[in-house]
Amino acid sequence: MQRKTVLVTGGTGYIGSHTIINLYEHGYLPISIDNGMNSDISSLSKIEDIIGVRIKHYNIDLQDLTKTETIFKEQKIDAIIHFAALKAVGESVEKPFLYFRNNLNSLLNVQECAQKYGVKAFIFSSSCTVYGEVKSSPVDEYTELQPAESPYGRTKQMGEEIIEDCIKKSDMKAVLLRYFNPAGAHLSAKIGESPINTAQNLVPVITETAIGNRPCMKVFGNDYDTRDGTCVRDYIHIMDLAEAHTLALDFALYRQQNQVEVFNLGSGSGYTVLEAINAFETVNNVKLSYEISARRPGDVVAIYSSYEKAKNQLYWQPKYGIKEIMQSAWEWEKNRNLTK
Ligand code: UD1
Repeated sequence: MQRKTVLVTGGTGYIGSHTIINLYEHGYLPISIDNGMNSDISSLSKIEDIIGVRIKHYNIDLQDLTKTETIFKEQKIDAIIHFAALKAVGESVEKPFLYFRNNLNSLLNVQECAQKYGVKAFIFSSSCTVYGEVKSSPVDEYTELQPAESPYGRTKQMGEEIIEDCIKKSDMKAVLLRYFNPAGAHLSAKIGESPINTAQNLVPVITETAIGNRPCMKVFGNDYDTRDGTCVRDYIHIMDLAEAHTLALDFALYRQQNQVEVFNLGSGSGYTVLEAINAFETVNNVKLSYEISARRPGDVVAIYSSYEKAKNQLYWQPKYGIKEIMQSAWEWEKNRNLTK
């Protein structure tokens, strides 16, 4: 059977690269587009090492509508997984124009092309950040959205609304995937999180500190109303997250009834920042140097998921936990420092 073609925007990025592998392994033909703004083009050759095939890649900025459209003229695209976006909460508070312009223009352009060229399914990389400061966890898809705590969060809320409004006149199906905190690396240790800009997410900050690239890491606030005063998050293994995209695509292309569906993708468990640090130290037998610092603007206090809906409708369930996340992240960090 001919493979269905899936355009993966942000294909050389962290979630994009892992998803490309999973898509290919499950019978899809991924095509990548990325402008390299915050990702490493060398992930393409690592993907090739893992799946044995060179993925077609376009080095294009999705903010350029004309260039974006050239892909649709060249390729028959059956579905799109739209990852391409900036994603640092703290940075978005500092640079709101950059975040709104980049994240929303890219989405509008790719949506417009998708509709013009009859794309059947659109998977959107959303975030649990759309729930804002929730009153309690676990959070399910029916939990009322609160105002976003950061411009990054707002771009995800607006992104979801743009899709809902824009696809009404098309026969496209859209799936909005609200990730909790993606972390860890491919089990081969060949690819992992490799941002060009300074890492800002907790797990890469932990591994960079452990390897000695940072003298000491900061824990942002220990005076929150949580069990040890630090923020609670739900860390989901990147391998599980990648698989969820393939399953979401199967769902959108073959079973989805409503035009738009929303799914949480998390592990269902919450860990404080100090618990995450402790898990890393215990699993890998490495001591981390850290200090408590001020709260980071834009952070929500505590959030973790219910993923029942994804379990029932996408037939998805996480296979890995915090231990495998910390192990694989550390293997990746050591490996990429060897090959630098
Ligand atoms: C947010 C989103 C998440 C999204 C991610 C993309 C929320 C609730 N979650 O994650 O869905 O995928 O952005 O980037 O909005 N921390 C430190 N020191 C550090 C780095 C982080 O203490 O050096 C703490 C943060 O304050 C936070 C936790 O670690 O409490 C996790 O932070 P991070 O990994 O940056 O992700 P979120 O901002 O929670």
